[in-house]
Amino acid sequence: MKRTGSVAEVRQQVKEWKKQGLTVGLVPTMGYLHEGHKSLIDRAVKENDRVVVSIFVNPIQFAPNEDLESYPRDIEKDTELCTNAGASLIFNPTPEEMYPNGFSTNVVMNNLTKELCGKTRPTHFGGVCTVVSKLFNIVAPDRAYFGEKDAQQLAIIKRMVADLNFDIEIKGCPIVREADGLAKSSRNTYLSAEERQAALVLSKSIALGKKMVEDGERNAQTVIDAMKKCISAEPLAKIDYVSVVDALSITPIDEYKGYVLTAIAVYIGKTRLIDNFIVDIDTL
Ligand code: PAF
Repeated sequence: MKRTGSVAEVRQQVKEWKKQGLTVGLVPTMGYLHEGHKSLIDRAVKENDRVVVSIFVNPIQFAPNEDLESYPRDIEKDTELCTNAGASLIFNPTPEEMYPNGFSTNVVMNNLTKELCGKTRPTHFGGVCTVVSKLFNIVAPDRAYFGEKDAQQLAIIKRMVADLNFDIEIKGCPIVREADGLAKSSRNTYLSAEERQAALVLSKSIALGKKMVEDGERNAQTVIDAMKKCISAEPLAKIDYVSVVDALSITPIDEYKGYVLTAIAVYIGKTRLIDNFIVDIDTL
């Protein structure tokens, strides 16, 4: 398996694969790969002849007060995981390769970015849309794989691909959890032992909300209130949001109807974690 930081080398390699009639999958990541990422790579390996994993801690999706500097990195361990999973190429560019002097263009999404994480992180999704567009143009994959844990990001990328006519199939992959329920995240490494235990309140409240909806509750505020009560019982937890939105347009709804995303963001100490569940009420 090759590893390169060069846009030109990735392009050359993908060109050769395409000349041979091979299909290409892309798994965009910020590295410090865990089983959640591995599930994306595994699926991409199954569905494509060649798989590119991008590993790039994208500076423009972090606000100045966020964790860009401390974001965990381990390229050697990531390389081992990608090799074992059967990926063909790692693209790990420097910030200068992605954003050379004079870089002046951003992809801005007007809708879908105002609620949920977009409220607390108003510049985040612009950074995500810009870097993902660049990765799509650099790799030109047939398919790209994203985790459903970042449900808003996934909805935004699907919208962007439709709006900008990228000829790429977007595949959402289920949330991967630890044995005790905590959703896998590179940021879980920030948690102390006590915080790690407290963080279980996220998956606990998600399970509670999901059960209420499966048992027939359709009032969004009733579910939100119950989930908030559950989270607030944990002294180390501070709620950023508990929201119920239409899963495609990411606009708040009062009633569970159609395709619905229930999403939460909770600070455990200084670490902000997210989790969610999606239900299609029509097929429940
Ligand atoms: O989900 C992530 O890890 C990042 O937001 C992504 C999609 C790789 C863009 O930097």
